Amino acid sequence: MAKEDDKLKRVISHAKEYGFVFPSSEIYDGLSAAYDYGQLGAELKNNIKRYWWDSMVRMNENIVGLDSSIFMHPTTWKASGHIDAFNDPLIDNKDSNKRYRADVLIEEFVAKIEVKIKKDVDKAAKRFGDAFNEEEFRSTNPNVTRRQTQIDEITARFSKALNADDLDDVKAQIEDLGIVCPVSGTKNWTDVRQFNLMFKTELGAVSGDSGVIYLRPETAQGIFVNFLNVQKTSRLKLPFGIAQIGKAFRNEIVARQFIFRMREFEQMEMQFFIKPGTQQEWYEHWKNARIAWHQALGLGEDNYKFHDHLKMAHYADAATDIEFNFPMGFKELEGIHSRTDFDLKQHEEHSGKKLRYFDPETNESYVPYVLETSIGLDRMFLAVLSSSLQDETLEDGSERVVMRIPAPLAPIKAAVLPLTKKDGLPDKAREIINELKYDFNTYYEEKDTIGKRYRRMDAIGTPYCITVDHQTLEDNTVTIRERDSMTQERVAIDALQRIINEKVNMSTLLKKLN
Ligand code: GAP
Repeated sequence: MAKEDDKLKRVISHAKEYGFVFPSSEIYDGLSAAYDYGQLGAELKNNIKRYWWDSMVRMNENIVGLDSSIFMHPTTWKASGHIDAFNDPLIDNKDSNKRYRADVLIEEFVAKIEVKIKKDVDKAAKRFGDAFNEEEFRSTNPNVTRRQTQIDEITARFSKALNADDLDDVKAQIEDLGIVCPVSGTKNWTDVRQFNLMFKTELGAVSGDSGVIYLRPETAQGIFVNFLNVQKTSRLKLPFGIAQIGKAFRNEIVARQFIFRMREFEQMEMQFFIKPGTQQEWYEHWKNARIAWHQALGLGEDNYKFHDHLKMAHYADAATDIEFNFPMGFKELEGIHSRTDFDLKQHEEHSGKKLRYFDPETNESYVPYVLETSIGLDRMFLAVLSSSLQDETLEDGSERVVMRIPAPLAPIKAAVLPLTKKDGLPDKAREIINELKYDFNTYYEEKDTIGKRYRRMDAIGTPYCITVDHQTLEDNTVTIRERDSMTQERVAIDALQRIINEKVNMSTLLKKLN
């Protein structure tokens, strides 16, 4: 655990040192679970958004975008189930006065057993070498099967208690498992209570219950309530999708782990409206499409896994998470949910308006089913940042810190560096920037040795450094250095646009998705 904490701390301090992420309102000692994106963070975030948006809206003729408001009519949240069911079970430790999510305490207990199983598997794999059959080992080794049975029993009891809203049994389970508060080390727990995660505020001058309005806890409902507006004005036929990127707010009980769990965050959600009965097929389609989107970035195939839900959200008939190997271990990055016709039917009922699709092929009117993909932008940012940050020892024994950010997502694409501050080299470098800046985010720097400047660019993930020297003035050539291989090549200034473009253009990622 300590090692994982260290890894996350390293990412946090690097992000702050280089202007990716700052604690919110830091001069007032910060605000818990709120963060600001700095000069490089804002660029990286925008690039992630663009990759997602283009992969949805530009690459699919039948997906269009939307930008709906954060405030919505309060009945939206009654209809969606958020007022009644968007709760987390919370429990306090009476000695430390620390608050926890009961489900997280149980999940962490299970995760510890999983680690023990993994250790046994790894040991056996080492012992048996090529002859090792993991599946057979997991199903026959007595230690592993005993631990797996324990996990199955814990999760079955917990799901049953939560589904039945039996919070007494959730508390009893925490006590039976001997779970202690990590701060006080005691089992002195309060009862488990449900806590609604929506932030409330008041509309205009109206106070009291009639003026209550919520900050949206997901962007999805803005899509549902606009389903007919978009369908009619776009004249799209089923199946079609609506994509949206925007802020969401949740009063998380335990908000921690940097930008992984915040109270204000951004989602990138796409609702795909389909004919009832086709949901299984589209569920598989979007699972494949979304994992391909992630894999195209090259952050490491083994860093992703699917985790199917045991307990469905109130709206879903099938759901899975794409988990990413964050510094804290595998955790949810994206959700793919088969939401049936739950949302549109609920909005029909609460608004009294029909939200139906007239199918010209069958001459029928029906409420479409919905397949949703929902990814947290901030979590995606953390996935990119944490997997890109690497400490390397070079052949000559020197060290470098490099961020191997996928080139199309890199905040700065090329730095232009005059070798010295004199002899007209800065002017030439500026000339090059003035050519490149229309296509790429560029950066000019003349301070320090060239080696130090290269290292600074490595540390923020800049794919190319272009050095202008005295030869440049004679023959219009420069040295271009590539971040990952550190190879340097002498090229004509005229070739720079093409060389950089081949690597950093978003289309290099999008073409992998076909
Ligand atoms: N519309 C469905 C929905 O909102 P969700 O699983 O609750 O589903 C979707 O959220 C994604 O939003 C998650 O996979 C996660 O990436 C992100 N997310 C949720 N809560 C978050 C939080 N407190 N901080 C940062 N990201 C969060």
